Parts: sequence; structure tokens; C-alpha cells
Amino acid sequence: MTNIQWHGRLPSAYFRGAGFMNYQHHFHAGNHADVLKHLALLQLIELMQQKPGGFLLLDTHAGAGLYDLNADEARRGDEARGGIERLRAAVHSSPQSAPGVPNVILDYLKRVDTFGRNHYPGSPLLAVGALRSQDRFLGVELVPKVARELGRNLDLCPRGEDGVSDRRAVARSGDGLGALKADLPPLERRGLILIDPPYEQTRERDEIVAALEAGLMRFETGVFVLWYPIKQRPYLSRWLNRIARLTDRPVLTIENSIVPDESGNRLTGSGLLVINPPWQFDTLMRPVLASLNSALREDTAAPCTLRWLNPPK
Ligand SMILES: C[S@@+](CC[C@H](N)C(=O)[O-])C[C@H]1O[C@@H](n2cnc3c(N)ncnc32)[C@H](O)[C@@H]1O
Repeated sequence: MTNIQWHGRLPSAYFRGAGFMNYQHHFHAGNHADVLKHLALLQLIELMQQKPGGFLLLDTHAGAGLYDLNADEARRGDEARGGIERLRAAVHSSPQSAPGVPNVILDYLKRVDTFGRNHYPGSPLLAVGALRSQDRFLGVELVPKVARELGRNLDLCPRGEDGVSDRRAVARSGDGLGALKADLPPLERRGLILIDPPYEQTRERDEIVAALEAGLMRFETGVFVLWYPIKQRPYLSRWLNRIARLTDRPVLTIENSIVPDESGNRLTGSGLLVINPPWQFDTLMRPVLASLNSALREDTAAPCTLRWLNPPK
């Protein structure tokens, strides 16, 4: 049985803002943003595993771990059609003569397909499927019902013989931003921290900056990966630069858009800000981003970029 940790009361973050948390990832599973995030996550895990020492993968906003693409929620927006389904079709229909599809994309599609065409795995199940016995997974989810679902899904998650054990793959109900204080630095002294907030509350961006600052104070060598939506570019750029100024360590952003930037509030793409990216992550992600962009964009002018906010020294 997977170890599920419970905190006695509902965390206060649950009640913050105008109302209860109402974000549900079931509506968005497998969309273009999930594809970018999960490809980068698998590439980062592979690079972390070039060293034999184990590491902690802390998923601060873990979600349910597995999503039924035929459920009403998923069917409503049909977002997987513009993400995983579009990428799969593009890869399968690419002519033999086309430049090779990057291995990480093929590996990602293979991993997703092990859950069947009607399901899409979230970051916890993709990660746990890739972790070794010496690695460790902690997924934090604010909504208790979703955390219970995650616990059940972790139990069912296929792993290799030398994969991470049930005991070392834990679902916790609680506030993920708080885990950047409470759970860092990890015992292993190596860690990959995925921060994937819903961006629903106005003060969430300030809370993310404060939590990252606290996390970096405790664990400045950790690999921190923050997902963000692309909308309102001038404001977004100021916010990303504010985060980069928290540290002297290398900071990289990778972004994939499906349509060009717009001044309104529509989601035009998504990005990941990576603090302390492992060596060669940028080089490996460049062709991945190019393939992804050409497969998923709805407009040929939609950009994909890889940019150092703090270059490596
Ligand atoms: C974007 S989804 C996560 C998706 C997941 N990382 C994946 O890639 O499969 C965000 C999740 O964070 C949860 N959440 C919202 N605020 C949170 C908080 N303060 N701490 C932990 N989880 C939170 C939501 O309930 C939701 O399930």
C-alpha cells in the first residue's frame, strides 16, 4: 500500500481568496501545457539519474495522478485533443524521411500509452514510473478527496523491478507551498521540485515568490521547476524576472505557445522556469521544443523559446 499522510484539519490555503479552491485538473488533463510540463519532467528525471545517488522528487501540486479522458469533465473542453492526441498523431504520421523525433518524446508517448488510450497520467504517475529504488516521491495535494485519489492511483502505478517502492512514494494532503519550507532540504541532499499551481487566486503569484525564496534559502542547489501560463506578457515578464532575482544560480525558461501572444487574458501557451537546470538540459530540450511546437501549434507564428534569465557562470 502506498503511504498516505494526513493532516488533521483542512489546510488554511483551502479557504483562501474569494471561495473554496475549485480548480480541477480533470478538465485539462493531457492538454498542450501538460505535454510540455511532462516532457520536461521526464527529461529532468533522466538527467538527475545520471548520478547514482537517490533524490527526492517533490510534486507540490500533485493532483489526482490519473485522469479518465472519457469522463464528462475531460470531454467538456476536449483539451487532450490539442495536446497528447495531437502530438501522438503527428509523431505517428511523420514521414520516415523527416528528422528524427527526439527520444524523450518517444519515451513519453510510450509511458502515457501504458495507461491505455482512455487515460492520461499526471505528473505523479509519470514520475513514479520513472524513479529508481534509491529515489523518493512526495506528492502534496491540497484537496483531501483528490489526495485520496492520488494515493489510490499511486498504488496502481506500474513500476519497473528496480523502481521506487510503495513505501517511498507518498501522497500527502496539505499545502504544497508549505512543503518548500517543511520538506527541504531533503535527506538525500538532491532534489527535483515541481511546482504546478492552478493560478486561480490573485495573491497566488506573491505566495509562490515567497515560497520559492524560502525553498532556495533552505536548499539553494535544488532543481526547482515552476509551471506558468502564458498570458498578459508584460506582467508575466516582470514576475519571472522577480523570481530570477531571488537567486544567483542559473535560471532558464522554456516556453511553448500554440498561438502568438495576445494582450488579453486568453491562455496562448505555457512555460517552465527552471532554477539549477542539470547540465545539458537546455541543449536536449531545444529539439524537443521545436518538435512539440510544430506538432501542437494552431498558428505558424506561435513561438517556442528557451531563454536564460540568469545564465550559468
Ligand atoms: C495543475 S493541477 C496539478 C497537476 C499535476 N501536477 C500534473 O501535472 O498532473 C494543480 C493541483 O494543485 C492543487 N492545489 C491547489 N492549491 C494547492 C496548494 N496550495 N497545495 C497543494 N495543492 C494545491 C489543486 O487541487 C490541483 O489538483
